[in-house]
Amino acid sequence: MSQPQSGILAALPRQARYLSFEILPEGDAAAALGAVAPLIDGDTAVMGVGRSLALELGVEIPGLRDFPASAIPGADIPATPAALWFWLRGDDRGVLLHKARRIEAAVKAAFRLHTVLDAFQHGKSRDLTGYEDGTENPRDEAAVDAAIVAGQGAGLDGGSFVAVQQWQHQFDRFEQLSAGEKDDVFGRRLSDNEEFDDAPPAAHAKRTAQESFSPPAFVVRRSMPWTDGMSGGLVFVAFGRSLDAFEALLKRMTGGEDGIVDNLFTITRPVTGAYYWCPPMGGGGQVDLSRLGL
Ligand code: HEM
Repeated sequence: MSQPQSGILAALPRQARYLSFEILPEGDAAAALGAVAPLIDGDTAVMGVGRSLALELGVEIPGLRDFPASAIPGADIPATPAALWFWLRGDDRGVLLHKARRIEAAVKAAFRLHTVLDAFQHGKSRDLTGYEDGTENPRDEAAVDAAIVAGQGAGLDGGSFVAVQQWQHQFDRFEQLSAGEKDDVFGRRLSDNEEFDDAPPAAHAKRTAQESFSPPAFVVRRSMPWTDGMSGGLVFVAFGRSLDAFEALLKRMTGGEDGIVDNLFTITRPVTGAYYWCPPMGGGGQVDLSRLGL
């Protein structure tokens, strides 16, 4: 069986860095991808390909589509696509910086660095609000089933799709809430991480209960907190064997099903949004770009 990039299914690292790149008009994208592929082991570096890059190479990846921008009262859900995305994983920010520099150098004839965002683990998998994130993630075989493409042929099997959104928290607003109101944002108790029955329908865990969708909307979330100066929030990262589950979740969060908007929006906002295709691993411990014609 084709192997996925192992970082997708592995536990979160302590430190991370996200890079996104735009295509330069005159560059040779295929040559740049060939140059960067040996740096992408799928573990310390996970790679995602945006739709504009696939199209530039004359390819449509089945299932890779444009991120759906939308709006709710008082907030935008923006689409901020990019051509190439990397999730660098490790425990030493110096190592991540140097890896990022090598990746930038490898692709720079055809791609311009667009965003760099450092992220980290807060406690054990906690969001910066203090709430534990990832509790209801599928594990083991269920995680493979939720996140990894199968049955579509060589070059696609073992791949994955990822939705990435940088959310910026409004810490002052969050801190003004009572303990009960904070728990009602998430639908879980901060004290013991338990879901509670009388959580409001707008509570995040109620909105996104994965089994309550038809078909069930399981995703493998690998989100990590970020900070920049005095700002901070969560880089929401959800891997799926398709983008359907993420879209169903987001639709319900934004009131698209029943008009009820997720309480999360009272304390945080997405400031970016993009989809990428994460190719499978090939031979020689590097990513398999055969589906892109390489
Ligand atoms: C700042 C943004 C977000 C924060 C802080 C956040 C935080 C949380 C927390 C604390 C939980 C409960 C524990 C757990 O099961 O992980 C949770 C659950 C979940 N979240 Fe989020 N989340 C965010 C955005 C999103 C988005 C954008 C989606 C999908 C579109 C999403 C999908 C889910 C799912 C599927 C669950 C598990 C629900 C279940 O099956 O019980 N989250 N989130």
